[in-house]
Amino acid sequence: MRYGRFDDTNREYIITRPDTPLPWVNYLGTEAFFGIISNTAGGYSFYRDARLRRLTRYRYNNVPMDVGGRYIYLRDAASGEFWSPSWQPTRCNLESYVCRHGLSYTIIGSTYLGIAAQTCYFVPLGENLEIWQATITNLRETAASLSVFSAIEFALWDAWDDATNYQRNLSTGEVEIEDGVIYHKTEYRERRDHFAYFACSEPLVGFDTQREAFLGPYAGWDRPQAVERDQMSNSIAHGWFPIGSHHVRLVLPPGESHSIIFLLGYHQNPPDQKFDPPHSQTINKVTVRPIISRYLDPHHVQAAFNALRARWSELLNVIQVETPDEHTNRMVNIWNAYQCMVTFNLSRSASMFEAGVSRGIGFRDSNQDLLGCVHMMPERARERILDIATTQIEDGGAYHQYQPLTKRGNDAIGSNFNDDPLWLVLSVAAYLKETGDWAILDVPVQFENRPGTEAPLYEHLRRSLRYTLARLGPHGLPLIGRADWNDCLNLNTFSEEPGESFQTAANRESGIAESIFIAGLFVLAAKELAQIATHRGNSADREWILEASNEMARAVASYGWDGEWFLRAYDAFGEPIGSHRCEEGQIFIEPQGMCLMAGLGLDDGRAAQALRSVHDRLATPHGIILQQPAYSRYYLHLGEISSYPPGFKENAGIFCHTNPWIMIAETIAGSGDRAFDYYQRLNPSVRESISEIHRCEPYVYAQMVAGRDAPSHGEAKNSWLTGTAAWNYVAITQWILGIRPTYDGLEIAPAIPSNWAGFTARRTFRGATYRIVVVRDGPGNAISLTVNGQPIEGTVVCLPPQNQEIEIKAVLR
Ligand code: GLC
Ligand code: GLC
Repeated sequence: MRYGRFDDTNREYIITRPDTPLPWVNYLGTEAFFGIISNTAGGYSFYRDARLRRLTRYRYNNVPMDVGGRYIYLRDAASGEFWSPSWQPTRCNLESYVCRHGLSYTIIGSTYLGIAAQTCYFVPLGENLEIWQATITNLRETAASLSVFSAIEFALWDAWDDATNYQRNLSTGEVEIEDGVIYHKTEYRERRDHFAYFACSEPLVGFDTQREAFLGPYAGWDRPQAVERDQMSNSIAHGWFPIGSHHVRLVLPPGESHSIIFLLGYHQNPPDQKFDPPHSQTINKVTVRPIISRYLDPHHVQAAFNALRARWSELLNVIQVETPDEHTNRMVNIWNAYQCMVTFNLSRSASMFEAGVSRGIGFRDSNQDLLGCVHMMPERARERILDIATTQIEDGGAYHQYQPLTKRGNDAIGSNFNDDPLWLVLSVAAYLKETGDWAILDVPVQFENRPGTEAPLYEHLRRSLRYTLARLGPHGLPLIGRADWNDCLNLNTFSEEPGESFQTAANRESGIAESIFIAGLFVLAAKELAQIATHRGNSADREWILEASNEMARAVASYGWDGEWFLRAYDAFGEPIGSHRCEEGQIFIEPQGMCLMAGLGLDDGRAAQALRSVHDRLATPHGIILQQPAYSRYYLHLGEISSYPPGFKENAGIFCHTNPWIMIAETIAGSGDRAFDYYQRLNPSVRESISEIHRCEPYVYAQMVAGRDAPSHGEAKNSWLTGTAAWNYVAITQWILGIRPTYDGLEIAPAIPSNWAGFTARRTFRGATYRIVVVRDGPGNAISLTVNGQPIEGTVVCLPPQNQEIEIKAVLR
């Protein structure tokens, strides 16, 4: 069953009923000002950091879900009836409803009582404000007399404090009103130099800024007293709950439309110019007024909207493909690329499943997110790499997370997730392959944000490898530390205390628990760094790195193979995890994917055997399960993984992030059919037709789909902010379609399904445009390439001089 449909031409998903199984959300903003918006206008906005600079309030734990948003109410003067054109919060029985989630904008429209209302929400490029442009049309045969109300609830900036510290917060709220603009300035009197504003393009009949005045005692957002009575109080919030609400009246002749613009923005003043006049407590509005008047002008709004759409076309045009499969085309050309940008921007901070208060930017997460969008915005990738590297610790270790606002490592979570540093090598390698910007390696980068500790980025990468080598266990395999990629495999935690963090508690530093996954990741990262060293002419580095990598490969070969698949780990007692000898958790997906991507087991039949085992034991129609059999009870020595009921999350859920590793491994092993089959099992667009089972948005990947041990097998959770986005994008574009940046040029090495006749693609790479035509002339993956009509050796097309058009023909046999 579907709740909408794709509109590929407009790059939109069109939701045709408001009561989707969960709020189906989208994101506004592309740079610094962001918002999350549901298909019923729920959600909230923030500047840079969902926790520390929250503009508007949202209630995650609410019933019904999704309360708090960018609401508009309409009231018909003749009947006194009022409604929300976005359905929520009044939930009237709308006569028609449509929500179009596009790339960084959302348009929600509906009709009720012969009045059509459509609101377009977006953030103009380069601005710290969001626009709601509401167009109201009278479809009746008689004139309509209407009231329009806007409504938002301000958050008092720090979202965590906002949700908990009432004894203080209920006394701090402050606003100002000037020319109909509502300014929210809580704490501006003291240490803040920023404020929010909420403006409206029309003359106001009234306004409210105190929640109780607007809603009335004991009333909810579904029935504001001011709307019911058509009468605002012009309230000024002093403490309690500052809100912003404008009241506009319209008389619309039959058939006529009127457009109203609302602006919600964030603005900062220099600390010494906060007030105007200087010794007052009044906000200095000199620099914000021109911004407000600019965007209350519909011409500027239209131009900004066009610019946003043009920007997305430009970004997506870096790769466009045309394959025989519409789901692939749609995901590659539009939605997966879009999701990659959103995950890059927001990491794991703000979604329907991430409350925007707990997590900063993950070290491993961001390095992986970057893999999916470095081709679209290399400059921002460069900046991100340097930010991440600056949080690295001198011994090569990494803070597990850092705060986007301060860009500093988060002490509360700390370090010792022993896979973390290695991901930096992979992101830098991807950046170099895409851009050829070798100079980045010489940029001086601090450790732990400490001036005076600068070392070239290249040195950071060396230390990442050395960090692993300095922490080897009894089998010569990497010690796992608090956890590796699988945050929930906590082999040194031994937690018996309810509520204790599995990731940060370490009740036993065994010095024994080892990870085969990190071993694979090490080999993969070492191979990259060896190539980078070679490129820099540093043969000494190249040598020790390859030596270390071979040594690690030998350790995996001797102690990391279980007979039919790679082992997962050794626990704190030196016993294997992910072995046929275990009662539960006999086979894990992660080491199969990672070891194969690192090239382990390719020449001794183990790779093929591991892939068979994955297929036979872990694959389901809804994707590949993380491990089997599920843990049926809590194991003190395994930690969080065994805390989840069977089939959920890391305990035998389909943890989607890992599936593309197997797809990539299948292409390396030569099976385009298998790879593509797995790709389709998770492809959100394929799953659209089972939306009643999948339940999350059909246009983006979710972190998890319930595994076969769960009663809700096939149900997705944790949509949007997941490494699944980047890795699926890499798997389909670079490995299945096989268009792969390398240090020396663009490689064309598809491993597509045997029943595809071929595909075409356009890829911009290092300033040149490649037009690629792949034709199948036999069932295999053997490739012959011609470049501008000339046959070439191998699969890598050398770098062209700038700005050239290059025609590539690849024949597969
Ligand atoms: C979450 C985390 C990620 C981790 C994964 C597996 O997605 O953000 O860092 O690797 O879970 O535990
Ligand atoms: C929880 C999640 C896991 C995540 C970890 C770190 O354990 O289940 O997926 O990676 O938290 O925040």
